Amino acid sequence: MPKSASGALLSTVEIDRNLKVPLYKQLENFLRGSILDGMLKPKQKLPSSRELAEDLGISRITVKSVYEQLLAEGYLKSKTGSGTYVSEDLELFNYKKLKAVMIKPADVEGKLPDRVDPINLSRATIRYGETAPFRPGLPALDKFPIKSWNKYIFNAMSQSDRYNLGYGSLNGSKDLRKSIAQHLADARGLRVDAEQIVITSGAQQAFVLISFALLKAGDTVWYENPGHIAGRDVMKAMGASVMPVPIDSEGLNLDYAKNNFELPKLIFATPSHQHPLGITMSLARRLALLKFASSKNSWIIEDDYDSEFRYRGRPLPALSALDEERRVFYVGTFSKALCSAVRLGYVVVPEWLIETFAKAMNLLGQNASPITAAALAQYINDGRFAEHIRKMRRLYRDRRDTLIECLNQDCSDLLSFKSSDAGMHIIADLKSDLDDEFVYKALLDDGIESLPLSVYCLKPIKRSALVLGFSGVARKRMPGLVRKMSETLRSIH
Ligand SMILES: Cc1ncc(COP(=O)(O)O)c(C=O)c1O
Repeated sequence: MPKSASGALLSTVEIDRNLKVPLYKQLENFLRGSILDGMLKPKQKLPSSRELAEDLGISRITVKSVYEQLLAEGYLKSKTGSGTYVSEDLELFNYKKLKAVMIKPADVEGKLPDRVDPINLSRATIRYGETAPFRPGLPALDKFPIKSWNKYIFNAMSQSDRYNLGYGSLNGSKDLRKSIAQHLADARGLRVDAEQIVITSGAQQAFVLISFALLKAGDTVWYENPGHIAGRDVMKAMGASVMPVPIDSEGLNLDYAKNNFELPKLIFATPSHQHPLGITMSLARRLALLKFASSKNSWIIEDDYDSEFRYRGRPLPALSALDEERRVFYVGTFSKALCSAVRLGYVVVPEWLIETFAKAMNLLGQNASPITAAALAQYINDGRFAEHIRKMRRLYRDRRDTLIECLNQDCSDLLSFKSSDAGMHIIADLKSDLDDEFVYKALLDDGIESLPLSVYCLKPIKRSALVLGFSGVARKRMPGLVRKMSETLRSIH
């Protein structure tokens, strides 16, 4: 903060010239009261006497005399050359605690829309807050290229036209859309016109957007089970009937869904790397899925959240690359390849829906930051993004191998697991008949944050397993953490 930063705005001071109380007394009472109530905090800076006099339309001498009085009483301190502050001695003062009281009106039941229950019951919030080792989906934050990224943000802020300091373009930064189109051709075999891309603040916003624009209450959605929690829950909240489609060795089990559920308006799938089981959808299943969607007039969401991280073999091109009818909404995110705090993702939409999606984005009011978008566009164009992916690929492969080694050493009698050719986590099945949610909680108490497979399930499946993220844990920490994990598991068996 610059040395001469301005003080508090004091927007709630009210000076009433009609009162009998003199102006200086009104201001003095206000400031003293605000300090005692804790509205003004110890060490908080007050505006200069000139600024406050101007704001309130009173004389500077009046403000000065009030400040002097409160300085004499010990409420304020002045620092030469810096300004007037609330005294830090008041930190010891026992402020009345502000207590949030939950008042729920008695007759509220029945008045709230049906979506409130799915919102309240959602466990997608699991991704917020502090993280502990082995949280799935967490990239190597310790290796995030902070210095280089800062330069790109700085340059984006400094661009001469100041365009980035406004709302930017309705469907997101043109530069970023172009860079993404180029990246998709290079990395995913997808030929996409930059105009078809809508920039979002993460993949989740793309799911919200699709649900908001396309789903009616009662529409059927076929959704992978187990599957991505937050995407599923937003569709439920929008009133869709979300049907749990099991996963077999080729991916989403299309025949099961055809035989058991009503025809879908929308199908949600993670073909490159099923989330969280890790299966790659076979080519035959991809073609069958597209053919089915075409014959039944359904849409498909292809969530391609972590396809950058494949450690063996070449990735299959995206499902979208086989889609000649534009039935697939291809969704990508930078939350895994960079980090979730950049809040950037995108959705590729059919031409005739571009405007609807862009306008829906605006109504939802969650547009991504044009500054971050401009920074990322340049980061991709300079080859830095590809460089980062290559680095992370090597790092994650090593982290995965170390995790497997450690598990083999300490947990092979407790867990059954195998290495994975892609992604950022492995699945470890419990060899005991313990409930995975119970095990998850016990491990969390000991500072280890796997997720239970059951949390990904809309309909329970006959597996009790832990989802263990390896990408976010440094190799040297793994032996100790896995040993701890084995001790905890043994103690609850
Ligand atoms: C399967 C899957 N899709 C998408 C996302 C990305 O979410 P976002 O881009 O909103 O951070 C995640 C993140 O947890 C995920 O696990």
